[in-house]
Amino acid sequence: AETAMHYMPERIDLESLRAAVVDCQACDLHQHATQPVFGEGPPDARIVLVGEQPGDREDLDGRPFVGPAGKLLDEALSQAGIRRGDVYLTNVVKHFKFTEPPTSRGKRRLHQKPNAREVFACRPWLEAELMLIQPIAILCLGATPSQALFGRDFQVSKHRGEIRATDWCDRTMATWHPAAILRMPDQHRRTEMQQQLVADLTRIHPTR
Ligand code: URA
Repeated sequence: AETAMHYMPERIDLESLRAAVVDCQACDLHQHATQPVFGEGPPDARIVLVGEQPGDREDLDGRPFVGPAGKLLDEALSQAGIRRGDVYLTNVVKHFKFTEPPTSRGKRRLHQKPNAREVFACRPWLEAELMLIQPIAILCLGATPSQALFGRDFQVSKHRGEIRATDWCDRTMATWHPAAILRMPDQHRRTEMQQQLVADLTRIHPTR
């Protein structure tokens, strides 16, 4: 099967990758997405946050974590005393996957979970980002990035907050996805998950 390797530029730096991902057709998601959303942040960032894929807002803006989930993440970063500008933010899958609701005028398009084929096709972009940045810490937001880095059997609900070594970083941790927190109907549970996200950010973030 084709993967993003086919679209890798000869020069591997973040700006060349960002330019190259625009032409990526390694899976079919490029057909309906507005644009790819590449990672954002300093090339020498000490921490990388990895989400699942861009949402409706991110697809339109071309930047990661600028929609409702991004707002919650911004709040959690600020509560953890971390400046967003110091962090490299990216996603496992670079194109938005969605369904149009039947009566969709003015409504947000509904995000759909990327499948294993799409994750496999896209992952060379993430691996190249991680290889270039060589962060001291990686925080996976939700199941998709956690399973991409820890393996297909990994369960965030069981192993959230544990620091483990992966091929990409000695300090890799999984936590809740901010969108999963937003979707939680029980308000007490939602508050608790939000506090756990802040605690995980605080613990994984390299100080110095
Ligand atoms: N959710 C994600 O996983 N990534 C984004 O960039 C936005 C929402």
